[in-house]
Amino acid sequence: MIKISPSILSADFSCLHQEIRKVEKVADLLHLDVMDGHFVPNITFGPMVVKCLRKKSNLPFEVHLMVDNPEEWIEPFAQAGCDIITVHIETSYHLDRLITSIKEREIKAGVALNPSTPLCELEYILPRLDLVLLMTVNPGFGAQSFLPGVLPKIRDLKEMGKKRGLSFEIEVDGGINHDTVRKVVQAGATILVAGIAVFGAPDPQKAVLKLKEVANTTLKKETAGVNEDSIAKDRS
Ligand code: DX5
Ligand code: ZN
Repeated sequence: MIKISPSILSADFSCLHQEIRKVEKVADLLHLDVMDGHFVPNITFGPMVVKCLRKKSNLPFEVHLMVDNPEEWIEPFAQAGCDIITVHIETSYHLDRLITSIKEREIKAGVALNPSTPLCELEYILPRLDLVLLMTVNPGFGAQSFLPGVLPKIRDLKEMGKKRGLSFEIEVDGGINHDTVRKVVQAGATILVAGIAVFGAPDPQKAVLKLKEVANTTLKKETAGVNEDSIAKDRS
């Protein structure tokens, strides 16, 4: 089953608790975008906010750390009650040590890659990861357009995992909506982050359910070997 992880970046920050309640029953995870104004040109929130939200939700929390010096922030976010911490590969000189520091706190470890960062950077760390997040926009802002150039990268990552017998999640983040969901699932994504498509919708709960339905129908067809694109080609 494909998991949907609503990003609160597009929620109303003046009432985050009420916003999260709208997706609490249907989301699989909650995606928390932490930005420092250095690694990305935007600032959001830190561990204090995550700690407050932790008391209000039972969803697994995944923190997407878009910050320089992520090493300094593992303990504060662990204390705040995160279930998954994802760090950007571009931000760390000592990624293996950083992954160890996440895992020794019994938190799942993810690594995120910007659209232009090649998959070969993952070669020796991949077996240690629970999740790889492929950015499908340049990080920093919500509501940007999906970059279709990342689709082959999703396919290649799936293939890399398959060849090596690894079972990490492939998460995609940025520009995921009812139009792009099929493409990323066909390419191999297993967790879909959605900000504006969920919190910008009149009914965020319905929006999550719709994304899930489209994603899982696509997955079923893929598993059964029915590829909509090839059917369309065959018909033309
Ligand atoms: C962007 C963030 C995303 C963002 C996605 O840097 O990492 O999680 O919220 O937003 P949408 O789904 O609106 O593109
Ligand atoms: Zn994110």
